[in-house]
Amino acid sequence: MNDLIATYYFKPKSGVTPEFAAQAISEEQTTGTWTDISTVNEKTAYVHAFDGEVLEIVPSGEGFETKLRYPYEIFEPGNIPQYLSVIAGNLFGLGKLEAVRLLDIDIPKGLDGTGPKFGIEGVRKLTGTETTRRPHVGTIIKPKVGLTPKDTAAVAYQAAIGGVDLIKDDETLTDQKFCPRMERLEMVMEALDKAKDETGRQVLYALNVTTGGDRILEAASNAVRMGANMIMVDVLTAGFSAVQCLASDPSITVPIHVHRTMHGALTRNPVHGIAMRPIAKLVRVCGGDQLHTGTVSGKMGGKAAEILGDNAALTRPAGDLLPVFPVASGGLHPGKVHAEITTLGNEIVLQAGGGIHGHPDGTAAGARAMRQAVDAALLGVSAEEYAKTHAELRKALEKWGSA
Ligand code: 3PG
Ligand code: 3PG
Ligand code: MG
Repeated sequence: MNDLIATYYFKPKSGVTPEFAAQAISEEQTTGTWTDISTVNEKTAYVHAFDGEVLEIVPSGEGFETKLRYPYEIFEPGNIPQYLSVIAGNLFGLGKLEAVRLLDIDIPKGLDGTGPKFGIEGVRKLTGTETTRRPHVGTIIKPKVGLTPKDTAAVAYQAAIGGVDLIKDDETLTDQKFCPRMERLEMVMEALDKAKDETGRQVLYALNVTTGGDRILEAASNAVRMGANMIMVDVLTAGFSAVQCLASDPSITVPIHVHRTMHGALTRNPVHGIAMRPIAKLVRVCGGDQLHTGTVSGKMGGKAAEILGDNAALTRPAGDLLPVFPVASGGLHPGKVHAEITTLGNEIVLQAGGGIHGHPDGTAAGARAMRQAVDAALLGVSAEEYAKTHAELRKALEKWGSA
């Protein structure tokens, strides 16, 4: 079948049957509305080809789970805002429902786009980890805003010589006066070139190009022309089409790091909103190369089973779409690396902001401590054991503990 299947959790208002509620979603999102309409009649019977279909309803928690089939033809291929209007539109406000959550989508071939240009393999090739397959270590420059371009570059240099694979802007840093984007790019890339001369390692810098729809492509193209080797987009604030427009443009010859700031407004309530799974699948379709999907031990309270499912949605075979590199970020430090790797595996980017720049001996030592924690986990040695012979890791564990 070539139709799109969407899975929802829902809780009907009291007095409303689950069958009526699921049918109400299906009708609102396809050919119906709240009442019979004269414009659907014998002469226009052809519109029934666009009807949705309730495939199943099963009890789940205090509500129900339902699978709805949306006919392929109801979608405009490639128009992600339109897909969202169908699968995640008016239904959230329906009065017959107390709560409703989009849990998952199966996007059929033909609606699935071209996907990432680089994917995990492409990103690994750029950093030289395609044979070691170790987890990548990244850092977010902290403080998240305020540093000048020169000081940002100085921090980036320290992180690079300490051994990170990736440095990124924070989600709120774009092109403010205190740190103009292009000036920052130039200085950071210079710092990374210097680090490369010394270490032989190419470090990626994800420059945040998030801005209005009328300017984002130009901002990203300029950045690439000026030497950016990765760009970053806040997908939920800028929109899925922002990622799609960058990924499909021939001038964007670098990977796209996708941050999900604001997702908590959609994903956090377990009975209402939009789960991370459909967001992850759409980012893959749109062409993001790496995407934040949360941590099992960090500051944002992720659930292991869900994150594993989200990461699988990014990496499992899906037509011609390359796998997306999952990113675990938010409150990580060397003491948490073991838990992240044990649960999430090696095909992961582990990012630490505070957990690197908060190291008692500074950023370079913090980066070394993170890399040492990764080495320990890969050797199957506990962080405490490895810390006996690795001073940076020891100091990190002394400060933050090992859980
Ligand atoms: C951050 O910006 O601190 C994190 O990436 C947010 O973490 P989350 O992706 O789990 O929300
Ligand atoms: C991110 O954007 O991923 C974060 O800002 C993570 O920062 P932290 O490691 O200090 O929580
Ligand atoms: Mg952040």
